[in-house]
Amino acid sequence: MLDILVGGFYGDEGKGKIASYMALRDNPSLSVRTGSINAGHTIVFNGKKYGLRILPSAFINEKTALAIAPGALIRRDVLFRELEETGARARLVIDPHAGVITDEDVGEETNSAHLRGTVGSTLQGVGSAESKRILRTSKLAQGYPELSEFMADVPDKIIGALEEGSTVHVEATQGHFLSLFHGSYPYVTSRNTTSSGALSEAGIGPGYVDNVIVIFKSFITRVGAGPLGGELPAEEAKRCGIVEYGTVTGRQRRAAPFDSKVARSVVRINSANQVAITKLDVKFPEARKVREYSKLPVDAKRWIEQIEAEIGVPITLIGTGEEAMDIIDLRDKASG
Ligand code: GTP
Ligand code: MG
Repeated sequence: MLDILVGGFYGDEGKGKIASYMALRDNPSLSVRTGSINAGHTIVFNGKKYGLRILPSAFINEKTALAIAPGALIRRDVLFRELEETGARARLVIDPHAGVITDEDVGEETNSAHLRGTVGSTLQGVGSAESKRILRTSKLAQGYPELSEFMADVPDKIIGALEEGSTVHVEATQGHFLSLFHGSYPYVTSRNTTSSGALSEAGIGPGYVDNVIVIFKSFITRVGAGPLGGELPAEEAKRCGIVEYGTVTGRQRRAAPFDSKVARSVVRINSANQVAITKLDVKFPEARKVREYSKLPVDAKRWIEQIEAEIGVPITLIGTGEEAMDIIDLRDKASG
């Protein structure tokens, strides 16, 4: 069984939380991280908070092997720091073709007025390293002796695990509208963030996929420049209680209400057969930490049922708090 998890809006939907819950619940033998260090996934488990930029969020299940995809890009200092923090070193494999971001890549982005000013890039060197890969001049993981202990053919591992009948998760990063191909160019990231992009980075064909789960938040936020349909004035967002602050800059994120029409088109392009909604507890405070659908407040249930009808695919996972287990899991019902 292969499940792909992707972000439906502009990133920060809570992929880390959904991926960590699914790893605990589904016991995948392997979880594969795509993308790069310009995304920060937050995992809260047993009261401890982790912010991961390159390791799969599934690390909290000690039985799950972890993989970094051939299409992903690592930074060695970030990688080793996270291996230290998580103690997951013995469980990690990296594809020899994974890209490696160098200090030179970071320097080039920091010096780019276009990236810093217009695009609002996170300036982590990802786009610069990616562009060098296209020019065939970039560094790959296979070129570094200190990475040799991790080297393994990741597509082969994925396919092998599936052939044995075990479960594999593919974790994508950021969100649909930050996609280089499908987002609001040029206010986008340097890769395709959709399910097809994640598959391409993981290195396997579409025939292996069982579930595509798009993760939406119960409202929309966007960091930095670029269009945001339905954007609320900062004051009104505050009044609605849907205010978030950037983790790095501390700036108030731009916010808009949930939009079913937008969500429906995202579901179609990603060929999603399931949807996860996070932060239901922010929209409906009485939903906080509820773990059974029947115990949700009536107005929250009504909202979920309404948007599910509008989006057109089942809402199978509902986040009600930061903790990995603060979730309502309706997947059994949806498939049965
Ligand atoms: P990117 O790859 O950067 O897009 O990250 P992400 O999608 O993994 O999201 P990120 O962890 O950056 O941000 C989500 C934030 O929401 C984190 O602080 C989570 O702890 C929190 N969160 C996730 N799900 C829920 C939820 O259902 N309720 C509440 N209250 N918080 C949540
Ligand atoms: Mg994030």
